[in-house]
Amino acid sequence: AEGLIVAVDGPGGSGKSTVAREIARRLGLRYLDTGAMYRAVTQLALEQRIDIEDSAAVAELAERAVISVGTDPDEPSIAIDGVGVDAQIRTRAVTNAVSAIAAVPAVRALLVTQQRQVIAAALPAGGIVVEGRDIGSVVAPGAQIKVFLTASTEVRALRRSRQLGEKGVDDVARTLAELDRRDALDSNRAADPLAIPPDAVVLDSTALSVSEVVDEVLRRCEQLP
Ligand code: C5P
Repeated sequence: AEGLIVAVDGPGGSGKSTVAREIARRLGLRYLDTGAMYRAVTQLALEQRIDIEDSAAVAELAERAVISVGTDPDEPSIAIDGVGVDAQIRTRAVTNAVSAIAAVPAVRALLVTQQRQVIAAALPAGGIVVEGRDIGSVVAPGAQIKVFLTASTEVRALRRSRQLGEKGVDDVARTLAELDRRDALDSNRAADPLAIPPDAVVLDSTALSVSEVVDEVLRRCEQLP
């Protein structure tokens, strides 16, 4: 068999990770979180106190860094220069800095090349579910299934806030503002912006549960020739 690629794109808080991991589990496929790779470079840049607006310095950092990803959907992992950063990449500091790093074309070129290698390596054993912003459009335009997951900004902010363990209304408002800002940066950058590929199925998870979204994607996988 040729191997299946399922691309799952969408903005932050749309439920991409939960959905993508569950699809991978159910189909026995590998799982790649490309956002984690941009986050890992960001974490390293913050740690090394590199100016995140200095694209040349950021590009140089990314060229030197060695990123390793684990693609088990039950236990995805990410390390940079041999150091596991699974928890560090989820901090607010990284989340608010990552869009600047992800807008640097040289960083994208490096990571997209690595992402395609990870995908190619997974195909002989069945395939892979890949989540991000530009998977269906740039990383794997040949993916047999392309999903674009959306949800209202309010619902996405609530989910993010809950993930962060926040309780207050102010926290949700702040998370919403940060999410809005990140959406705008990711959608308006010149290099591979967040966009809906013309051949993607758009699923709005505002009113759909995780299992409803997963079932819809699995149904489409079953219908593949
Ligand atoms: O999906 P996640 O929220 O972890 O992604 C973090 C950031 O990484 C996004 O806001 C975006 O700037 C960047 N990203 C990207 N292309 C991808 C995946 C993530 O630019 N394929």
